[in-house]
Amino acid sequence: MNTKVIQIVEDNIQEELLEEAAKILREGGLVAIPTETVYGLGANALDEKAAMKIYEAKGRPSDNPLIIHISEVKDIEVLAQDIPKTAYQLAETFWPGPLTIILKKKDCVPYQTTGGLSTVAIRLPANQIARKLIARSGVYIAAPSANLSGKPSPTTAQHVINDLSGKIDMIIDGGSATLGLESTIIDLSGKTPMILRPGCITKVMLENVIGVVEYDPVILQKVPDLNLVPKAPGMKYRHYAPEGKLTIFEGDIDKVVEAINQKAKEKQDCGNSVGVIATEETKALYQYGSIITIGSRKDEASIAAGLYGILREFDELHTEYIYSESFADNPLGQAIMNRLLKAAGYRVVKI
Ligand code: TXA
Ligand code: MG
Repeated sequence: MNTKVIQIVEDNIQEELLEEAAKILREGGLVAIPTETVYGLGANALDEKAAMKIYEAKGRPSDNPLIIHISEVKDIEVLAQDIPKTAYQLAETFWPGPLTIILKKKDCVPYQTTGGLSTVAIRLPANQIARKLIARSGVYIAAPSANLSGKPSPTTAQHVINDLSGKIDMIIDGGSATLGLESTIIDLSGKTPMILRPGCITKVMLENVIGVVEYDPVILQKVPDLNLVPKAPGMKYRHYAPEGKLTIFEGDIDKVVEAINQKAKEKQDCGNSVGVIATEETKALYQYGSIITIGSRKDEASIAAGLYGILREFDELHTEYIYSESFADNPLGQAIMNRLLKAAGYRVVKI
């Protein structure tokens, strides 16, 4: 299949380009779309054949449900039933934006889209290209992250091209994703609202709007407990692991830098290729290996935005050993560390 790549600028959207993408979606094809979190691989959510194509292109297990993207809050009433008041409160506060809400599904949503579940995940994205495309196509867009299963989520169109070129109809290049981490997922289908995946919208932000919110216990684990089954099926799959062995160093930052330098020198002296995930504040202090700066500790959002791109970069360099600082101690830390710990196979050195 020939994958067409088109460029659209978010604040100057050309209607004829959007129409080309909309037509593909209406006809049951696959279009990769930019969103503010990560790029998504979109298809008509209510067309089971189209939804199945997503699983095939990504190599995704069929029990892993898709998020349905909508363009107006009232669309939730088409897709979900028994909608609690809290859903509207969260929608009003955080939509359009990086929050996915899980509700009981209506019959029109095929089980192919929900991975066999009787609930449905819904998000109203902030990215204008995504939202206008949903509205224009007239279909709700099921979209998982547009990576091959097992790779980090794509934050640029080039990442999508690397993973899916030749397997999908179109890729819309709308520039880099501004947030860089997947949406926060909150489940409102049970008794107590529960966060199934941490993201840029934090527990405190959610509790300020709807009161007590719980974490799925799986999110809080520092060491994987095989008895805990995550409530979001996608969180159970072996997550992205870089080609190289990633280790996180935790503790006083001066000591962390010293320990990473020591370890990096050791490996380099043995002839291994080494990479360091540094921050603006520490980059000048590292002496060995390929040093890549993830962002600034003063701007935690920059760290979230840089993570997936860095992991892909080290793969391209075929780096054998990667050492990273820890980011546990900031409000976005939960979301960042959730991904970083998985990528590191929970390998953490405490200093
Ligand atoms: O930011 C995002 O959410 C991006 C962009 C493209 O919107 N999408 C994304 O989709 O991250 P994906 O498929 O990579 O992750 C969706 C997660 C998976 O872990 C899946 O298991 C979970 O959401 N999920 C979807 N529907 C669910 C449901 N009904 N119940 C529990 N978990 C669900
Ligand atoms: Mg994903």
